[in-house]
Amino acid sequence: MTLTHAKPHVHVRAVGLDPTRMPRHVAIIMDGNGRWAKARTWDRTRGHQQGAEVVRTITTESVKLGIDRLTLFAFSSENWIRPQHEIDFLMLLLDQFLVGELPTLMENDVRLEAIGSLHRLPANVRATLDHTLSATADNRTMVLSLALSYGGRDELTDACRAIATEVAAGRIAPHEITQETIQAHLYAPRAEDVDLVIRTAGEQRLSNFLPWQATYAEYVSVEALWPDFGVAPYHAALAEFQTRERRFGGV
Ligand code: FPP
Repeated sequence: MTLTHAKPHVHVRAVGLDPTRMPRHVAIIMDGNGRWAKARTWDRTRGHQQGAEVVRTITTESVKLGIDRLTLFAFSSENWIRPQHEIDFLMLLLDQFLVGELPTLMENDVRLEAIGSLHRLPANVRATLDHTLSATADNRTMVLSLALSYGGRDELTDACRAIATEVAAGRIAPHEITQETIQAHLYAPRAEDVDLVIRTAGEQRLSNFLPWQATYAEYVSVEALWPDFGVAPYHAALAEFQTRERRFGGV
């Protein structure tokens, strides 16, 4: 039996979580790869390598838990200032992940999405990404959204530019611009709002991640470095989410 046919609520209950209080959209800031490697006097790239394994684990676990959408901050628009060999390694890892994970994404019925300034990615990574995006386009069980060369302010700026272009062309009047108009011009227009943001490595910053989508999200900071993150700390973060009372501005 493939995971696609498994019943998420059975798994959710089995791991001690409440199926009626699960987040639909989880977004994760994967932090601490460098620190994990440094603690072992290894090159930072080994932290990223281990981090990619955790991406696999958490993606599969999210499917089992019945999460609708998992957004992972894999590379920020600010990460381009890192040493070139680290950037090259991250791009290689991404390429290998996209090729190596395709069978699992298909088996688990996961659709890949990518958000960010994708034109900045190297051409070979772009090509692999495009292939994986189209190969998984009809999958329905979960969306794995990778934030690549992503910056929240860039996303909002791009949306403003696109809307301004439509205004200039006379297709929409300024007073007709609503929150829905902005939502429709985001990188993933149909994505639901984020319910839960998890950040590893004990950090308590949002770092330009999904400012529009995570406006009402619950934020959980986890001590584990990303390469040490896994199923148990993920369940603990979800349990923490389930203790929160979400009021969305009401009383
Ligand atoms: C933050 O750790 C992590 C990143 C900048 C990259 C995240 C990449 C991965 C988890 C691996 C590859 C991803 C995929 C999707 C295959 P850091 O380097 O900032 O750690 P530090 O703050 O301890 O230095």
